[in-house]
Amino acid sequence: MKPFKSYVVRTNEENQVTHQVEEVTESFLGEGNTTIAVEYSSINYKDMLGLQTKGGVIRNYPMIPGIDLAGTIISSEDPSLSPGDPVLITGYKLGTEHTGGFSEVARVPSEWVVKLPENLSAKEAMMYGTAGFTAALSIAALEKNGMKVEDQPEILVTGATGGVGSVATQILRKLGYENITATIRKDYQEESAKEFGATKIWNITENESNGRPLNRREYKYVVDTVGGDLTADVLSKVDEYGSVAISGNAGGVKLNTTVLP
Ligand SMILES: NC(=O)c1ccc[n+]([C@@H]2O[C@H](COP(=O)([O-])OP(=O)(O)OC[C@H]3O[C@@H](n4cnc5c(N)ncnc54)[C@H](OP(=O)(O)O)[C@@H]3O)[C@@H](O)[C@H]2O)c1
Repeated sequence: MKPFKSYVVRTNEENQVTHQVEEVTESFLGEGNTTIAVEYSSINYKDMLGLQTKGGVIRNYPMIPGIDLAGTIISSEDPSLSPGDPVLITGYKLGTEHTGGFSEVARVPSEWVVKLPENLSAKEAMMYGTAGFTAALSIAALEKNGMKVEDQPEILVTGATGGVGSVATQILRKLGYENITATIRKDYQEESAKEFGATKIWNITENESNGRPLNRREYKYVVDTVGGDLTADVLSKVDEYGSVAISGNAGGVKLNTTVLP
């Protein structure tokens, strides 16, 4: 295979992270039985961390970031994958411990590879990206726990202006849910949250937690991408037999709550 371009993250002698486009060969790529011609990769929060010194995401340098990708199979030892098959990958160790999607060519274990759904282009798949996939998984989990459009339940999306929350809000609205509250932290975010499909806005800086273990049961279902103190507050406001899909820790990993909710 001819050399190809990749975005490579390295550390220099001062242990500072550098990143640049480089021409590399296949031997630079992580091990795997499948090579893919990459068309698209989305830029994720983790990728941003990967470009930073002490970002905590990449431990072995040099590395190609890109935690997801979509493209076509060049070759595979797995009989279920044929050259030209459109595929995608999200997550696993891609772009953190294993060379990732910011590269014209990727090499991966075939177990990570998912066939691209017929109604989705490579570009669309990566416009949703891993954040969109997380949003979809959260909504699927809530629907598995009883959330139904027919009931028009009260739904809360935290971090609704972020990668996961914004797509979650849009998917919920497209599915037909009409009672969607979005948390925001800045007044100017109200407009975009409403554009995404939120019908009510909760500016958490204006209405902070009262610290009570139980509050008025405002929400039946929650897509929570923030975590931390906001999750503790939200749990106190969830209705009986409600459900909370927690995927994030943007507001902290510690959850200081009580058994009451
Ligand atoms: N993106 C993914 O593929 C993915 C996958 C799985 C899990 N996650 C996790 O999900 C979380 C969100 O990811 P993301 O990609 O959506 O991040 P993001 O684009 O940075 O969005 C974070 C959202 O949370 C809000 N937020 C941050 N800190 C907050 C706080 N202390 N209180 C209230 N709101 C706060 C932000 O509001 P502002 O705009 O005001 O800052 C923003 O709306 C992260 O913890 C991430 O690790 C992400």
